[in-house]
Amino acid sequence: MKIGIIGSGHIGGTLTRRLSALGHDVTVANSRGPESLGDLAQETGATAGTVEQAVDQAEVVVIAVPLLAVPALPAALFDGKIVVDADNYYPQRDGDIAELLDRSLSSSRWTAEHLKGARVVKAFNNIQAQHLMENGRPAGSGDRIGLPVAGDDDDAKRIVMELVDSLGFDPVDAGTLDGSWRQQPDTPVYGTDRDAEGVRRGLAEARP
Ligand SMILES: NC(=O)c1ccc[n+]([C@@H]2O[C@H](COP(=O)([O-])OP(=O)(O)OC[C@H]3O[C@@H](n4cnc5c(N)ncnc54)[C@H](OP(=O)(O)O)[C@@H]3O)[C@@H](O)[C@H]2O)c1
Repeated sequence: MKIGIIGSGHIGGTLTRRLSALGHDVTVANSRGPESLGDLAQETGATAGTVEQAVDQAEVVVIAVPLLAVPALPAALFDGKIVVDADNYYPQRDGDIAELLDRSLSSSRWTAEHLKGARVVKAFNNIQAQHLMENGRPAGSGDRIGLPVAGDDDDAKRIVMELVDSLGFDPVDAGTLDGSWRQQPDTPVYGTDRDAEGVRRGLAEARP
């Protein structure tokens, strides 16, 4: 699959490594430009590109940037794309965003409002990058971690759930984008590496 990854840090770099190793055709971009991505490209076989190049031909685009960078992304290019939102909102890093501070919007809904027309699916936001790198397990393993996947577009969600599974994690349907606050920071499933049943329970037990 052609996959664009925006962000080459902890989470974007990890997904570049893991998805390239699975044979996907990955283009990775960051804020400093392709010339800064030579080492990662050489290590993984991924293509170093601009943000525009990463989005342009991709069937799936992963966003792994500080949330405050989302409004600067070239929104028109994302129209119709499956967009995996791995981002979280941290006020100390991302600044005051009223709709997120008062929790009237999930952070993925806020992102989707900036990227109008994108088929946004929230995934990978609740697992530490190192665990995403190292803790994937074959299906059926007793210690397989479950990862919540939320979104409004059923086809997009199914494709992202298949990617999650191929990376060695049990995908758990976490409902809609508006309900994706249930996997945000400070919820039972955030950073806790539960199995699929534990994720289902944690999503149900989450309180606003
Ligand atoms: N760290 C984790 O374990 C983890 C786990 C789950 C979710 N998350 C979430 O994932 C997101 C990324 O976290 P991270 O830890 O990977 O951050 P990070 O290591 O600081 O990497 C952030 C990346 O975003 C890029 N970036 C920033 N602004 C950009 C822009 N305008 N256009 C293109 N690229 C831009 C940076 O580019 P440069 O390299 O050029 O600076 C960098 O590659 C955050 O929202 C975070 O909350 C993190």
